[in-house]
Amino acid sequence: MPEHVSESVRWVGVKDPGLRRFDDLTPTPTGTTYNAYLVKAERPALVGAVPERFADELLERIGQEIEPRRIEFVILNHSEPDHSGAVAALLDAAPEASVMGTRTALHYLSDLLGRDFRGHAVADGEELDLGGRTLRFLAAPGLHWPDTNFAYLPEERGLFTCDAFGSHRCFESLHDDDSPEAEEDFRRYYDAILRPFRDKVLGALDRIGGLDIAWIAPGHGPLLHRDPQKWVDIYRQMADVPRTMPPTVAVFYLSAHGATERMARAVADGLAEAGAEPVLMHVTEASRAEQRDLMERACGLLFLSFTAARDLPEPMWGTLSYLTTVKTNANVAAAMGTYGWSGEARDMMEQRLKGLRLRLVEGAPKARFRAKPEDLEACRAFGGKFVQAMKECR
Ligand code: FEO
Repeated sequence: MPEHVSESVRWVGVKDPGLRRFDDLTPTPTGTTYNAYLVKAERPALVGAVPERFADELLERIGQEIEPRRIEFVILNHSEPDHSGAVAALLDAAPEASVMGTRTALHYLSDLLGRDFRGHAVADGEELDLGGRTLRFLAAPGLHWPDTNFAYLPEERGLFTCDAFGSHRCFESLHDDDSPEAEEDFRRYYDAILRPFRDKVLGALDRIGGLDIAWIAPGHGPLLHRDPQKWVDIYRQMADVPRTMPPTVAVFYLSAHGATERMARAVADGLAEAGAEPVLMHVTEASRAEQRDLMERACGLLFLSFTAARDLPEPMWGTLSYLTTVKTNANVAAAMGTYGWSGEARDMMEQRLKGLRLRLVEGAPKARFRAKPEDLEACRAFGGKFVQAMKECR
């Protein structure tokens, strides 16, 4: 059954309680929902859609409110297939409907559908008159695709945000609760989907800062209507990770026989002498969460590893993979380490860091078999050079 959101808005989405991994990546122990909202104005609009496999269910739910062919606008705030898969079926059912989204969203949709459709690229701040109701489009790019938008319904003080403010939580009732579990799901969703884009999150929060919001209608999980400001505040608290002073430098290391660890401690001494605050993290002892938190707040990143079987050992590959799951404050990085005969690990780490467009500080030491006194001295000196590079990069 459709659920009541506000005077003219009905939830007509679908529930997917059996889903255990979203996008084949994110665990969803309680499933998820794909939210779509029908605005029952003179010129009806559907905000958001659902995956292709749920198209019939979506159309059936819309049909319990209005004839689907009456829909004049499909508001596509984001074109990922979990929100656009059913658009083809919708346009078959409502052939006069126009798809409204950012230019990028329409471009992506064209590729996804592989067919022509009537579309209108909306500008930031543009308003769509639905007859008695208005939708105002607000640019919110990068949450988590480049195509994203919010839509505000001023007459009912509602904000449609698609993935932002979502939860992977398959609700019994659309209406949120204040349970710790609801907040946990909300935070977990941010961590999995939006955390790498926290700068964009802050931009979006600024964009909606002056709005009078009675409810937030996300693309997944419960409607946020009891205290919408609470959820906005939680987003700001999670996304706002200021640069530390003195600047934190994360030193991630892996050490088979102690030599790489001695190098890590020596470079940390050099960092501290130069005025930074080094934080050493042994990657096989720290949790994924601890490593990601440190990466996010650090102003500089150092990675030290030995080479094993001509490769970078798996734990350090894992650590490097976390770099794309956060938005680090660092723009300077370096890779160091020990080796016996071939020494590929450092180059592999450097390639990864370059691929992420971090600025590499040249001249990072590399020691053979053991960290000799001159190697440790080189590490200390490199710590100072690294701090200087951080200052130049500001
Ligand atoms: Fe819920 Fe980015 O799709």
